[in-house]
Amino acid sequence: MGEADFVIRGDLCYSKDLSRLETLTGGYVVCLKGKSAGAFPRLPEEYRSLPLQDWGDKLVIPGLTDLHIHAPQFGFRALGMDTELLTWLETRAFPEEARYADTEYARRAYRLLTEHVRRGPSTRLVFFATIHTPASLILMDMLEESGLVCFAGKVNMDRNSPDSLREPGADASLAATREWLAACGKYRNVRPILTPRFVPSCSDALMKGLAEIQKEYALPLQSHLSETRREVRWVRELCPDAAGYADAYARWDLFGGEVPTVMAHCVWTDEGETERMAERGVFVAHCPQSNTNLASGIAPVRRFLERGISVGLGSDVAGGAHTSIFRAMSDAIQVSKLRQILAAEDDAPLTLEEVFYLGTAGGGAFFGKNGAPGSFAPGYDFDALVLDDAGLAAPFELSIRERLERAVYLSDDRNIAAKYVRGKSLFPAYKG
Ligand code: GUN
Ligand code: FE
Repeated sequence: MGEADFVIRGDLCYSKDLSRLETLTGGYVVCLKGKSAGAFPRLPEEYRSLPLQDWGDKLVIPGLTDLHIHAPQFGFRALGMDTELLTWLETRAFPEEARYADTEYARRAYRLLTEHVRRGPSTRLVFFATIHTPASLILMDMLEESGLVCFAGKVNMDRNSPDSLREPGADASLAATREWLAACGKYRNVRPILTPRFVPSCSDALMKGLAEIQKEYALPLQSHLSETRREVRWVRELCPDAAGYADAYARWDLFGGEVPTVMAHCVWTDEGETERMAERGVFVAHCPQSNTNLASGIAPVRRFLERGISVGLGSDVAGGAHTSIFRAMSDAIQVSKLRQILAAEDDAPLTLEEVFYLGTAGGGAFFGKNGAPGSFAPGYDFDALVLDDAGLAAPFELSIRERLERAVYLSDDRNIAAKYVRGKSLFPAYKG
């Protein structure tokens, strides 16, 4: 057995599936070559020679995945939260993103972001950068160094955007994308993802060219879909020949199939669009806090789950003010209840088990069949958090499930005592 092989002991909690948790008091999880070899109530003989990191009665859970976050928006999070999407994009997001033409500014801002997410509960993140190739590479350099495992995308925008944040045309945007991709070969932990911002900001010629690039490089893709009613109407006006928002991607063959594809929001996704997502294996990044802040609405997550669609959680910073996917879990439960009340639908609200699954294995599945995090079952990548929840104690004894629930609603980054990504410790060094 290799150097990087070890065993962790603690109070373990992970998802068996969408609706069931596994909990083990004083259990063991074995990490071999960056992957979990399984979780056990008693350590099997064959692993007894491995180094043991004993975290006592701390809570040990899989790392979380943030399936949708805008890196350049971290700097202005929690500002301008009293507007709705399209106004917010024009007045807040676009002017701030335009500043990333300045590499010194990008370096300063992305340093703050990287330090913050390295300390937080996500071990995997899927980032939008900006249209700027140099700044996108600065972000990727910093993420690579952080030890986190990420996707990051240089954004494509060639229409309906301010002069300061618009590429001069489809050809220029495609050329910049190729230039960016050519520089991405050096990364081991950060992979490029094709990132047309959303239909309103991408011309037909750009979409067509991106589909060619996607095939050439077999690239995954991320974008936004059916976020607000106003936006959906706008897409219908912009693309009168498309059968709907999803079709405005699908008609260019930019809607799942062979390559992993994730669409953020899907708040106003109807039956037809849901069907199409299920058929094409498109992931949903559910971003409940953003959907509340930007007056978007409440996504029909129960329907997505019933159709077998893969769903993960996103912070959508800075539509969402908080980077924590624990917060996204509790928000997802809360808005699912509001949906039941306000939309008068009989979709059952989400449970703790379900949102924990979405924030771990659900979103983690986007990272691929052979490298997915999100569980301690054998074969998953070993991404783990050790939570010191002593400060969340109760005057009565809490079960592991209850401790998890309190962590979801109450914990912050200070409760994270240790963090591992693919078997590597990000912090701290284990001192025994
Ligand atoms: N749609 C297009 N761009 C954006 C963005 O930056 N944030 C959100 N929430 N939606 C978008
Ligand atoms: Fe977004």
